[in-house]
Formats: sequence, C-alpha cells, structure tokens
Amino acid sequence: MRDIEERIKKLLVEMTAEEKIGQLIQCGPSLVGAFEVSFEELLDMMFDGRISQEEFGKLMSTATQDFHEDDIRAGKIGSFNGIKNAETANRLQKIAVEESRLGIPLLFGYDVIHGYRTIFPIPLAESCAWDPVLWEKTARIAAIEATAAGVHMTFAPMVDVAKDARWGRVSEGAGEDAYLTSVFGTAKVKGFQDDDLSREDSMAACIKHFAGYGAAEAGRDYNRVDMSMQRLFEEYMPPFEACVKAGARAVMPAFNDINGIPCSVSRWLLTDILRNRLGFDGMTVSDSNAIAECVDHGIAKDRSEAAKLAIEAGMDMDMSSNVYAENLPALLERGVISEADLDRAVTDIMRIKFELGLFDHPYQTSCEREKETLLRPEYRACAREAAAKSMVLLKNEGVLPLKKEIRIGIAGELADQRAEMTGAWAIGANGDDCVSIIDACNASNINYVYTPGIENGVVNKKEIERLSKNCDVWIAAVGEKKDQSGEAASRADIGLPKEQEDLLEALLQTGIPVAAVLFNGRPLAIPWAAKHVPAILEAWHPGVEAGNAVLDILFGDVNPSAKLTTTFPYTTGQCPMYYAHINTGRPGGKGKFTSKYLDTPLSPVFPFGYGLSYTSFEYSNLSIRQEEDMLHILVDVKNTGKAAGEEIVQCYTGQKTGRRVRPVKQLRSFEKIALDPGETKKVSFDIDVKNLGYYDWNMNYTVDRGAMEIFVGTSSVEGLKADIVLK
Ligand code: GLC
Repeated sequence: MRDIEERIKKLLVEMTAEEKIGQLIQCGPSLVGAFEVSFEELLDMMFDGRISQEEFGKLMSTATQDFHEDDIRAGKIGSFNGIKNAETANRLQKIAVEESRLGIPLLFGYDVIHGYRTIFPIPLAESCAWDPVLWEKTARIAAIEATAAGVHMTFAPMVDVAKDARWGRVSEGAGEDAYLTSVFGTAKVKGFQDDDLSREDSMAACIKHFAGYGAAEAGRDYNRVDMSMQRLFEEYMPPFEACVKAGARAVMPAFNDINGIPCSVSRWLLTDILRNRLGFDGMTVSDSNAIAECVDHGIAKDRSEAAKLAIEAGMDMDMSSNVYAENLPALLERGVISEADLDRAVTDIMRIKFELGLFDHPYQTSCEREKETLLRPEYRACAREAAAKSMVLLKNEGVLPLKKEIRIGIAGELADQRAEMTGAWAIGANGDDCVSIIDACNASNINYVYTPGIENGVVNKKEIERLSKNCDVWIAAVGEKKDQSGEAASRADIGLPKEQEDLLEALLQTGIPVAAVLFNGRPLAIPWAAKHVPAILEAWHPGVEAGNAVLDILFGDVNPSAKLTTTFPYTTGQCPMYYAHINTGRPGGKGKFTSKYLDTPLSPVFPFGYGLSYTSFEYSNLSIRQEEDMLHILVDVKNTGKAAGEEIVQCYTGQKTGRRVRPVKQLRSFEKIALDPGETKKVSFDIDVKNLGYYDWNMNYTVDRGAMEIFVGTSSVEGLKADIVLK
C-alpha cells in the first residue's frame, strides 16, 4: 500500500508534536454529574459497598456524558472507546474532520466480543461448535451491526488460551487448546475484517491480550505470568501468530507481566516478537489504563517513566490512562524520547485509519442504516443456530429428546432471567432482547409449570412437590449469572452453589426424570450432578436466542453435536486441568507413588473434545501413511443410531519421546461431518510433519523423526489409535 505510506509521510510533515501525541490518545466519554468523585471512584465505591446500587443509580441519573469536543477540535484525541450509536459517532467525527486543523478522522473502538446488538453465544460456547464457517459468519454479522452503530475496530477476538477454569475470562476465548484457538481466531479476524477493510461494514480486529494472559497464576485475574519460553511459544503464542497471518490490524497487549516484564512495556514482546518475528505492521493499543498500571507493577517509578517505557517498547495508543497526554510532551521536549518513536506510533495508527477508509469516507454510517441493521430477524436466526450448535450434551440417560406433548416442570431462576443469557462482554446488548426458557415455552404454547425453586437460599420443597403432580419431566436451570465470569471474575470455587445442588436433589426426589440445563461462563466442577442427574445440557450463556435454542435441543429439533473445548475438572483443586498434559515419570495410576491427588479421581468429570448426540457413531479402519513430509490419515465414521446427526471427528498426535518431554497428545486437526442413520463417511486428515515440532532447551524449533501415536476419535479420550515412525 505504497499510496497510504506516501499519504502518511506527507501528513507527518504537517503535524505538530502536540497533534502527533493527540493521535496516540484513546479516551471514552467521561461521565460528569452531581458527584464530587470521578466516575471510576464512584464505581469502586459501589463495588466495595461504600454506596448502594440504588444510590449509584440515583447519582448516575444526574450524570451527563462529556465527549471532550474541545480536545477533538484541538487535535488532542485520536480515538474513542465506547461510542455506540451512529449519531454520536458522526457528530464527533464531524468535529475532528471539519473543525480540527488537519482534519484527521477519529478511530472508534469497541468491545464487540460475541455480537454487537444480536448477541451470540459467548466465545467459549461458540468454540464448542468446532465450526470455522459459523465462527466467521457470526463475526461478519457482528461487524455489520457494529459498523452501522459507528464502530471501526473491535477489541476482539480474544485468543488467550486458558487452562485454568478459575479464571473468569476463559468465557471470552476458545478454551484450552492452542490449535483450536488459532482456527477460531483466524475465522473471527476474517469475519470482522472481511476482504476489504475500507468497506463500511468491515471493522479492524484487535486481537488480545498479547500475551499469555490466560496463564495468570492460580487463575486469578491480572496475576503474574511466569513460564518458560518453550511453553509460551508452544501453547500461548500460536493463536496470535495465526491471527497476524490472517491479517489482524491491531493488537492489545495484556495487563500481565511475562516473567517480570509487563507486556505493556516489553520491547522484546511488542517489537522483537510482534513486529520483527511475527511481521505485524498494524497498531498496538493498550488495555484500559494498563500503561499507568506499570507503576503499580513496580516497573516504572512514576507515570512519566511508564509513558517512556511504553512508547519505546512499541505501544502505539494509550487507552484511557492519559499517561501519554500528560507526559509525552515533556519527555519529547527534554529529548528523553525520540521524535522517531513518536512518528512510528503515529504512522502505525494512521495506517489503520487509511486502511479503514476513514480519510476518504469518514462518515461510514447513518442513523437510518443503524436503525435498519440492528437485530434483523435473519441475525436472530443465526444466533439461534449458533446457540444450538454450541450446546454440549454432557449426559443423557433416556430423558432427552422430550416428546412434544410432555408436561414440563421448569425450576431455577435462570430459566426466567433474559439478561443473564447474554453472558460477559455483551455491552452493546439489551438484556430484554434475549429469549429465556420461559419466553420460549410461552411462544411455543408448551404445557409447563415454573418455579424459581429457591427462595432466600432455601429450596421450596413444598412448591416442588405440589407442581410435580402436573409434570412428567423437570428442567432445572442452574449455573452462573453473567457477571460470575468474564473480566475480574475469577472464582476460588467453581462448583455449583449448594442451594442449586439442593434444588437438583429435591427435583430428583420427586421421582420424575430431571434434565439440568447449565448456564455458565466457564467449566464447572459438577461431580455430584454428573453422577445423579440423568440428563445434563451445557448451554453456556447462549445469547439472544437462548431459550429457543435450549428447546430446539431438548425437543430434538436440533440434534446436539457440540464438543467441549475445555476440561471439566472434578474439583477446583485440580485446576489447572487440561488434556494436553505431560506424562511425568510417575503417571497417575493405582500405585500410591504416582502423580495424582489423594482425594479426587484422576480423570476429569468431562474431558476436552467430549459431547454426546441423540445418535451414536462408530469409528473404524484408521490408516496412516507418510508421503515425504505429509501424513495422510484416514478413518471411517458410521452413524449407528436412529437419528441424523453431526460428528466432530478429532485428530491428535502424541510424540512418545523428545528432547523435551512432550504432551501425551495434541489436537492437530478436526472435521465436522453430517451422517444419516446407517451412513458411513471416510474422513481424511493431511498433516504436515513440520507442524509437529516443538522448541528444544535452546529454543530451536525441532521436528523429531521418531515414534508418533495418531489418535482419531470422538473426544480426546475415546477413539482409535495407531503408531507410526516418522521418516
Ligand atoms: C478491559 C479488558 C479488555 C477490553 C478493554 C476495553 O479492561 O481487559 O479486554 O478490550 O478493557 O474495554
């Protein structure tokens, strides 16, 4: 794009230092009102109980939003986070383009994580569809809606591999596997950006959080990340590499440190690795307030030093900390930072603004387009399809699918709480857009009775007994509310609350079959439910079409096909628990002196890649041959049941020995196939041996030619295996 580079150079020459610094500033609308403290302080006061939610609401009712128009006019702001309607976007853009000295357009960023107004299942849910076409399709719809509302960049996809279910942000990614997360992230980047970023319904993808955020120690959000370079580059970096290859135009460094250097000020990470090794030429934007927090990290003595370290590391844009605005002028004046560092950051940002077409057509939407675009019926239909394809059937002992004329009892408040269905990071959403299970039953004239089942933490057994006389099956809606996962939502106990287990027990005691529907944003430790409840559907937080999708599965209108992308541990104490573990010298087993816990079984409750169907599948005829550097793997899969269904065929490899110990198995490829009853399909995987490498002690990428186990199956633990010695 030589033309763009030329245009940037010409602009740079005209810009003052203040205007250059202005381009590095991303802010949000400030809330000002009849309160003496800042909005952030007010939020903290509410969260820590110094003021009640009612008092907070009352104060907010006096609030107005300050969009910093004068600063835009003065060229002191380059970007906004949190503009969520066409009218405001165009109004602010007009000030920037027509009233500032150089008319440089604003860049509007927003967290469009799993839909904008049409909220799709949370990413962890959607990842369980193992369906790149679907992943790209929902991202495309999100881009069409968000750009109609004025958004130019989304702070997504989040491609942090997460192996510890205590970490609340596991809900925002694609689970524990680097390969699957790479495929997921690639599909999302393509969906958001499409093939022409300058198109008005394309938005730049800002992949995050670079890097290793999912490995926060003890699953505690924002905690330290300390790991070997081998592990970082084998297990956490691949999705970022894949997304950069897919053309992602922005990167958000993570809050955490890596081995003692916060990502926000790590030149090794942001320049040596991101730009020089991965070849990234887009822009970097800090996480919210992250540059300022380098003082708290203890790597910068003050905000001025934080600003210096960040700009020198390769952090282009400062999201909301104001550290750049406050300190870069003086640092430049004193020659502490170079004009070259400043110009590099400005150039990266300008490149994206030009690529988005903001200079050529800065007003990319209109109120009319916004009004006619949001929440279209066809988008809802896609949300319903995505939700049903994301729901994992964990257990079914003859309860599901339900017959249409059956009388249903529904218990659990989550069955009647629309807003909880959006899950974390649905900030553009309107909870009332969601369809709850109760809404779906009413719309389908289903014969049901309902009770929240729990009042003040106690199960209302009388009510359950009374209602049981009028139902043939109980549907129990249990799990987590949406704010129990996502950012700043780590949990030290990922079990079901006691009152929810009491509710399940009370329902089981009626003697009527029970199907539990889990609404949650992370793997839960549910050994008791898994043992006693005859049917369990993992619905996650399914988005706007939650209730309809749940009924589609429960009544068999959709045959469940989803598979887990995270391991469900037996207890919180097993976290982090994941399938691609190493063997150790004493693999867990019956012997006392083997790697295990005294008080829990070895295996998880539900393993990675697991999910049931209303039909059954049989694998046979696994064959492998190597031609040069390509492994050709074939397997037959037959539908041995009575219903048509889809099966996600998974292909893993396991290297027996290496120069460093290797995981017992690693997912290398997968394919979802549809089979009618009795039908057999041959599935083939072609795997390049060069991709089976790893890093040796000296960080040399190594491909061994030795014994390799090939495992093809319906989950990471069930399937066929064969050995081969790689040539
Ligand atoms: C948050 C999150 C990040 C998000 C950003 C902007 O703190 O860490 O994922 O994109 O702020 O809202």
